[in-house]
Amino acid sequence: MSSTEFKIKNSPIKLKVRVLHVVRLVLARIARFFFSLYYGTEGVKIPAISDDILKQPAIEVARRIRNKEITSVKVLQICIKRIKDVNSALNCFVEDRFELALKEAHEADEFIRNGTKTSEQLEKEKPFLGVPFTTKDCIAVKGLHHTAGVMLRKDVVADQDADVIRLLQEKGAIIIGLTNVPELCMWWESHNHIHGRSNNPYNTTRIVGGSSGGEGAIQAAAGSIFGVGSDIGGSIRMPAFFNGIFGHKPSKFMVSNKGQYPIQDSELLNSFLGIGPMTRHAVDLKPLLSIMAGENSPKLKLDQPVDITKLKIYYQLSNDAPLTDPVDPDIKMAMRRVVEYLKLQYSIKTEEIKIQLLQKSMPIWMATMKEKTRFQSLIMKKTGVGAVLTELVKNAIGCSDNTLIGLLTAISDRTGAQFGSEKYKYYLKVRDHLEKIFTDMLGENGVFLYPTHPTPAPYHNEPLLKAFNFSYTAIINCLGLPVTTVPLGLGREGLPIGIQVVSNHNNDRLCFAVAEELDRTFGGWVEPQKS
Ligand SMILES: *[C@@H]1O[C@H](CO)[C@@H](O)[C@H](O)[C@H]1NC(C)=O
Ligand SMILES: *[C@@H]1O[C@H](CO)[C@@H](O)[C@H](O)[C@H]1NC(C)=O
Ligand SMILES: *[C@@H]1O[C@H](CO)[C@@H](O)[C@H](O)[C@H]1NC(C)=O
Repeated sequence: MSSTEFKIKNSPIKLKVRVLHVVRLVLARIARFFFSLYYGTEGVKIPAISDDILKQPAIEVARRIRNKEITSVKVLQICIKRIKDVNSALNCFVEDRFELALKEAHEADEFIRNGTKTSEQLEKEKPFLGVPFTTKDCIAVKGLHHTAGVMLRKDVVADQDADVIRLLQEKGAIIIGLTNVPELCMWWESHNHIHGRSNNPYNTTRIVGGSSGGEGAIQAAAGSIFGVGSDIGGSIRMPAFFNGIFGHKPSKFMVSNKGQYPIQDSELLNSFLGIGPMTRHAVDLKPLLSIMAGENSPKLKLDQPVDITKLKIYYQLSNDAPLTDPVDPDIKMAMRRVVEYLKLQYSIKTEEIKIQLLQKSMPIWMATMKEKTRFQSLIMKKTGVGAVLTELVKNAIGCSDNTLIGLLTAISDRTGAQFGSEKYKYYLKVRDHLEKIFTDMLGENGVFLYPTHPTPAPYHNEPLLKAFNFSYTAIINCLGLPVTTVPLGLGREGLPIGIQVVSNHNNDRLCFAVAEELDRTFGGWVEPQKS
């Protein structure tokens, strides 16, 4: 795994950087103490899940509906009640289409009842017939708002469904509403000035992550049967991790990004962005991706069985990057348990590795994410630094349309490597090199286990002090590889922990095989605040 053949400035970390790192760690500790004083209450309690159907995998709910064991209308009513029960505490569900959904559920039930198709035919042709689902407020759903958390877009209504929504509807699934995101989906806490801030179902004092944060929370709280998110730096996987569910970012270019806002204007950024499923059960990931990938689905050979004993497991416990937190001991322990289990149970070859270049994850992502279009132009009418500074002052007194983090991101537009610069090109090369390291290592049977994030869900606003902690997810987007976040129970603070499972291009099925195995063995999603 040496990267010596490529000239990357791998100089030893400078003393100054080390000192800064220690200072930052100390400050983060002090800050955490104050956060815990500020938020250190019980948080808000959410009611227990009263209906067993909400605990079932989506494929099982679908089976029961088409076999007339339960109606689609009944499932939908249960979801609506659950959303209403939890949303005052979680503020994660932002717009509904319950009436239309009820009409569609009635039609689904009628279609099943009148026997036009047998249950076997339905399973083939409409595998999710009558199953309610949700998506984030940046994936277009015809007739609903499409704000991406940007005040400038608060009145924008989608006049067409995103490709993924249409594909799922064609297979019978019923979209019931939208969930919350950060401003322009560019941060890992879901907060904006249209809908406010979403709260973690395991502890409402904590973040839900972002950008598919509202979706992570509603899935964890079992308010809809499955969800759809999108991910350009961890936006499916961080919320999945913080909320203890499964989330999959597909191989690059397999799922159409059409209908997602903001639109990526280059092929490179389209390769980073993946729309994928978010679920409480690993078994749902494969059938959902198979639909969402549309005509690309055959390239993923999802029906080809995976022999788990033939897999090669590589794992790395930390990226040791200078500006990210050390990985939480609970997460390291969970990863070790997984490795031990796979080794003992299946005699799989496992190998701990250290890809040095992962230390550069953040600079690679930051540089290669730069586009011609500036972030600022998408969240503000005005241009120039002056406008951002004015808005920052307004923000401080609570009368800005923009969030603090949105404004800071607008400033960071102008810092670091600029689009097309020498530095930008250099990081593109580093990215290419890292991709080669990964594809060579993974081959046809390799799987790479890696922390999803260094720590369980932090307090609200705490991400501001941990800006670069999403380096673990972001780098996988740069590489375009498929990756699943797998929940592994709750850590010592009662918050979900887990890991991500990466495989080679178009080998999403390996991620699913491992995710399903770990779901069976380690218990997967756990009902929040169950006591
Ligand atoms: C939520 O977190 C706070 C602060 O850390 C803690 O005091 C409280 O017990 C937690 N609540 C639950 C339900 O775990
Ligand atoms: C069965 O119900 C569906 C949905 O309401 C309808 O489109 C179809 O025409 C019906 N078929 C029969 C044979 O009644
Ligand atoms: C996350 O960020 C905080 C603050 O910057 C840092 O102290 C912590 O070590 C980071 N953790 C990881 C694992 O990146």
